[in-house]
Amino acid sequence: MRILGLETSCDDTGVALYDSQVGLLAHRLFSQVDLHIDYGGVVPELASRDHIRKALPLIRAVMEEAHIVSSEIDGIAYTAGPGLAGALLVGAALGRSLAFAWNVPCVAIHHMEGHLLSPMLEPDPPAFPFTALLVSGGHTLLASVGGVGHYQILGESVDDAAGEAFDKTAKLLGLGYPGGPAIARVAQHGTPGRFQFPRPMTDRPGLDFSFSGLKTAAAIAIQKLTLNEQTIADIALSFEEAVVDTLATKCKRALDETGHGRLVVAGGVSANRRLREQLVRMAESRGVHVYYPRPEFCTDNGAMIAYVGYLRLSAGQSEPLAFNARARWRIEELTH
Ligand code: KG4
Ligand code: ZN
Repeated sequence: MRILGLETSCDDTGVALYDSQVGLLAHRLFSQVDLHIDYGGVVPELASRDHIRKALPLIRAVMEEAHIVSSEIDGIAYTAGPGLAGALLVGAALGRSLAFAWNVPCVAIHHMEGHLLSPMLEPDPPAFPFTALLVSGGHTLLASVGGVGHYQILGESVDDAAGEAFDKTAKLLGLGYPGGPAIARVAQHGTPGRFQFPRPMTDRPGLDFSFSGLKTAAAIAIQKLTLNEQTIADIALSFEEAVVDTLATKCKRALDETGHGRLVVAGGVSANRRLREQLVRMAESRGVHVYYPRPEFCTDNGAMIAYVGYLRLSAGQSEPLAFNARARWRIEELTH
């Protein structure tokens, strides 16, 4: 079975072809970072328009690279949410129309399910059940995963997502967008211990997160100082450490609760090296194996959508001619 996957939920146009026998045949990504950089964040209308410009050329490029013609494609998967409504509509309309034209089934994919199952594309995929930490620009959540479509949320952010906190703090530091990679880059030159930021909600039981207080603590520190290169690096390091510590503490607690021997970490922030290292240390000391997607599949991509599309279409799921785009959509709603 060969599935074409389309991802247009935010500021990346991702396209991929997945073959159930061979694996990933080809994938392409166009990042809109340069388009939004002057605005310090994603401008939804610009994002939608650019998805329209890039999606078809990327689909052609992926099919050419894989030496696949339309009659060899058995189904189409597109990200239906959550995300920016206009951006989602581009992928939804295009995916559904292509499926109609090619007379193949089409399926609407939950973006976070794509992230969640993205480590399955790696050579050593995790078996079920596992505990998952999903950390992206829009979401921070811990889930107990029993199988495809069996997701129990253990905890989530009550305000900002971890990636959002990175992005907002980077903006205050004048580091630009996207903030996570920028903070990680300058933090390498930071002085350990110069600033002490809180580890929110780690001093009380539970698995929920809150990152807005941490962002405010960084904002207050920034206001009091004259920023120079070293101070920016020092704040970036302390901020990164605070986010990573907080995520690691909650993961440890979640593993205590579930008793799982496997931890999956996915979503844009899972590309963070310090986070990976700390989670591996924490997990290995308890005999837990950590699974990640490769760095390019931590952030948004079409491969994860094509893969989940294959899982869902091969299980018999597909949708009627009407198409779907849901700006808000809780991953728990997928559990049947
Ligand atoms: O999964 P993703 O590409 O998009 C969403 O679904 O939101 O995640 C993007 C987020 C951004 O907030 C970005 O700053 C963050 O992931 N990010 C990182 C790193 N790379 C991307 N955060 C920390 N360290 C990184 N290396
Ligand atoms: Zn994402």
